[in-house]
Amino acid sequence: MTHRSRKPYIAGNWKMNLDRSRSLDLIKTVKGRLGDGGDREVAFFVPAIYLADVTAVAQGSPLGVGGQNLWYEANGAFTGELAPRMLREVGADRVLIGHSERRHVFHEPDEWMGRKVRAALDADLLPIYCIGETLDERKAGKTERVCKRQLESGCEKIRTEDAHRLTIAYEPVWAIGTGETATIDQVGQVHRTIRKWLVQRLGEDAANLVRILYGGSVKPDNAKDLMAVDNVDGLLVGGASLQAETFLPIIEFDR
Ligand code: PGA
Repeated sequence: MTHRSRKPYIAGNWKMNLDRSRSLDLIKTVKGRLGDGGDREVAFFVPAIYLADVTAVAQGSPLGVGGQNLWYEANGAFTGELAPRMLREVGADRVLIGHSERRHVFHEPDEWMGRKVRAALDADLLPIYCIGETLDERKAGKTERVCKRQLESGCEKIRTEDAHRLTIAYEPVWAIGTGETATIDQVGQVHRTIRKWLVQRLGEDAANLVRILYGGSVKPDNAKDLMAVDNVDGLLVGGASLQAETFLPIIEFDR
């Protein structure tokens, strides 16, 4: 359950899925349903090549649109990468950083994370910084240690005044795309640990402004229970964000 001061945040991560026309259809449908959006924040993280088209369709609605990754330099010889200002230029207002697939498939190291989060904030992009343990790490009892290490690196350059623009997503690697959701107890425990870490790092007032999302096999039938957990301020949804039939009931988890 989220605190009064934090607006529930439901985010869809399309990863490398959909095509241009299905992307635009989905945005139109969700935009139509959202109205003024008022009491919740909804965003899609879309393949960079579709950002300009998607943001054009989303315009005039409260729907946020973000990139799935960035590089922290402003320009230079970085073949295949995108600078924060480039994402801004095509209309993105937010970005995912440190998603588990970036860490585990593309081997992005912890050492990049602080600079990426800082570069996003400096370019006026709202970062969702993703953390989470692998199954081996959980079995070895290292969940808290891994999450804290990832928090240390990603929040290395965070200042108190950034707190309201920062979102953390806890996504246990073993729950992503597997159909296996973390239990309510597991989610509650890690989210509490993250909040405590934020309080130590930023002080209580600022820490209470940071939203903490859960991600990993979120579906229409578990969204409400997950959102009822203390310190779960929203959901980061992969597979179920690809179709209006599964994403809309998650956005409307409490209706
Ligand atoms: P999933 O993906 O909902 O398909 O498990 C979540 C994510 O990777 O953000």
